[in-house]
Amino acid sequence: MYQAETSRYDHMLYRRAGRSGLSLPAISLGFWHNFGGSDTYETGRAVARLAFDRGVTHFDLANNYGPPYGSAEETFGQLLRDDFHPYRDELVISTKAGWDMWPGPYGDFGSKKYLIASLDQSLKRMGLDYVDIFYHHRPDPETPLEETVEAMVQMVRQGKALYLGISSYEPDETQRFIDLLGRENIHLLVHQPSYSLLDRWIEDGLDTVLEQNGVGTVVFSPLAQGLLTSRYLGGQIPTDSRAARRVFLSPDDITPDLLEQLQQLDRIARQRGQSLAQMALSWVLRDHRVTSAIIGASRPSQLEENLDALKNLHFTKDELAQIDRVLQDA
Ligand SMILES: NC(=O)c1ccc[n+]([C@@H]2O[C@H](COP(=O)([O-])OP(=O)(O)OC[C@H]3O[C@@H](n4cnc5c(N)ncnc54)[C@H](OP(=O)(O)O)[C@@H]3O)[C@@H](O)[C@H]2O)c1
Repeated sequence: MYQAETSRYDHMLYRRAGRSGLSLPAISLGFWHNFGGSDTYETGRAVARLAFDRGVTHFDLANNYGPPYGSAEETFGQLLRDDFHPYRDELVISTKAGWDMWPGPYGDFGSKKYLIASLDQSLKRMGLDYVDIFYHHRPDPETPLEETVEAMVQMVRQGKALYLGISSYEPDETQRFIDLLGRENIHLLVHQPSYSLLDRWIEDGLDTVLEQNGVGTVVFSPLAQGLLTSRYLGGQIPTDSRAARRVFLSPDDITPDLLEQLQQLDRIARQRGQSLAQMALSWVLRDHRVTSAIIGASRPSQLEENLDALKNLHFTKDELAQIDRVLQDA
């Protein structure tokens, strides 16, 4: 039987999610890849155990993570039964709906019809009575925001979600969402945007909206799906890499210019005594408004390496300037 490390809270850094009572680990584990029905259960299990043993108390899921859709939540349900059941109250589990999940007009975007049914399905797959955070996964240009908010308020009132989040909403839509929720006396806990050295869109206003409203920032793909690691630095595409699978990342994304940039960033990382992956994580976490960085890991050794980023979150002005120069030269 799995027994979690007794030292698991000794080294992790926890940050408060905006103006709330909830703290999250600076590094969280995402289930988008590596936990689906076509992945090896025991590998995912080893990653999840290692994560929890090192203080990663937050696992991030969504209805359609897999493949096939739903299977990452089923895997989490199995992990809960096998290993984590005694630790349920030490874990923050999030799920989402908003992308395509089932056929027809009621399995996508932001209607109340979709969101309510989807959360019920997610709870069944995971074997949970409630999730800690429910996210609307992406904005819906067609559904009135009032309806999406109403659905999510209902989830909280019914005790099926403790806290609420949104993902990939632009600054203006985020403010509207916060205001509508506020009318119901519910605070938006977190926003989940993409953010990495290669993707800095949140610096263009979203960061300020979140800060001003006391909303936490939980960033996804901080390693740019593996680009900001040693994976592709040698100019090859490893056969077991995400780029080789050509689903969300493709070898064509790794242009000679990008490769040159990654190699320069790697040199800066080495000067700091870090790997590229570690520096990329330290860099997103240098901003104290970033509550947590959700990473993916296809094996325990990647997670080990990534968690060690927390040993050095400090950047000198010169290092930040060097990094900016490399990024501007793109
Ligand atoms: N809200 C949203 O719309 C949204 C969208 C995307 C993701 N997310 C969330 O964010 C989580 C993380 O996303 P992500 O998987 O794209 O994050 P990521 O951390 O940027 O990329 C993870 C991938 O990079 C590679 N990798 C990680 N550490 C490595 C290391 N030390 N050395 C070499 N390779 C390494 C692995 O890929 P390989 O080994 O397979 O090459 C791993 O699966 C997701 O699981 C999900 O929970 C949310």
